[in-house]
Amino acid sequence: MLNDAFFQVLREAGDLMLSYENLSIHWKDGHANFVTEADEAVQSFLQERLHALLPSAAFLGEEGGKTILTDELTIIVDPIDGTTNYYRNRCASAISVGITAEKKPVAGMVLDPYRQRIYHAEKGCGAYCNDAPIHVSDFPMERALIEFGSSPYRTELNALTGLSVAALLPRTADLRRSGSAALDLCNVACGISEGLFEWDLQPWDHCAASVIVEEAGGRCGCITGGDAVYDHSIPFVAGNAICFEPLRELLNGLWITHHP
Ligand code: IPD
Repeated sequence: MLNDAFFQVLREAGDLMLSYENLSIHWKDGHANFVTEADEAVQSFLQERLHALLPSAAFLGEEGGKTILTDELTIIVDPIDGTTNYYRNRCASAISVGITAEKKPVAGMVLDPYRQRIYHAEKGCGAYCNDAPIHVSDFPMERALIEFGSSPYRTELNALTGLSVAALLPRTADLRRSGSAALDLCNVACGISEGLFEWDLQPWDHCAASVIVEEAGGRCGCITGGDAVYDHSIPFVAGNAICFEPLRELLNGLWITHHP
């Protein structure tokens, strides 16, 4: 399904993203949740150009244009994952394009425009960074670097996030908080970290990268049990094949005793 035409659209979207200076921003809801004019422009660009490549597919994007997920092909886009990093010039944001069929991701592309890397995967075909195959690591929990998201738009989850970090620090090598879930997941897929969790993560943040992690030999799911779903936000966890279950179990234990 993914071919050079998709990668070309993604590269052009990346050029558009990096072309902005003196960004105008507006707040969506909450003090930490805002959108820049670049998020909106990149989403419109992707919607139009991807529709030309997959005319039968529905479109679901972070910045409006949301649709109800059906069994049909659906393109799920985060035009800029890591908007805060982008707005603050931290060079750690990505463009994320996932494709679902029967409500499950079947293909995903994540562009890191700063490093000119396209992470991509299709179900059953392996995972790649540009042309090179990528694989998760085989590190166990005690050697693991675990990425996490802080659910910045859900302040009632702050304490649970803090408890999770405190519980994981003594059981792992260390934790990381980058500000882009899509890039965190690609790090897991490349074997330079071993897991990611976030207590409330939206489908456009993890859809594309989930295929990449799974095709690289890792696992993704809902912390409280079962597979990830893509029609609403979930407590999300991913990991290499060794760390996934212990990470999920530890987090689920915290959920049972401490959820708000
Ligand atoms: C955010 C990033 C961040 C995660 C947030 C997401 P956005 O994406 O992925 O790492 O912690 O929950 O919302 O809002 O910048 O597209």
